[in-house]
Amino acid sequence: MSALVEKLSSKQQDSLIWFKAAAISDFPDDGGACIKYKGYQVAVFNFDNKQRWYACQNLCPHKKEMALARGLTGSCKDEPKVTCPFHKKSFSLHSGESLNEEAYCIKTFPVKVEEGHVYVGFDSSY
Ligand code: FES
Repeated sequence: MSALVEKLSSKQQDSLIWFKAAAISDFPDDGGACIKYKGYQVAVFNFDNKQRWYACQNLCPHKKEMALARGLTGSCKDEPKVTCPFHKKSFSLHSGESLNEEAYCIKTFPVKVEEGHVYVGFDSSY
């Protein structure tokens, strides 16, 4: 289960729309893949070595490239991160904040895994 989901109360989890993204086996180990929800591209990451999942917008805010699903993943001081393949801007997969001390930030989404499938949580604004 994602660390983001663990931080949500059950009431908060119940208020989300849980989109069934794909089977776990459809995602690369320790990598990302892009899914679409209502035309919105979302990057979903499998941190297989830590048994954690994360999701964020696929659009990199730097030069507006749909690229984050192909970014490099890792961690910085226990903060899970994705680094855009174009100009190496890094973002926290918890908060969405830039890890380069820049104004860019990304939207992150809670993820849960149930019965072999990955679900991404969206609020009603999506
Ligand atoms: S487009 Fe992502 S860092 Fe420039």
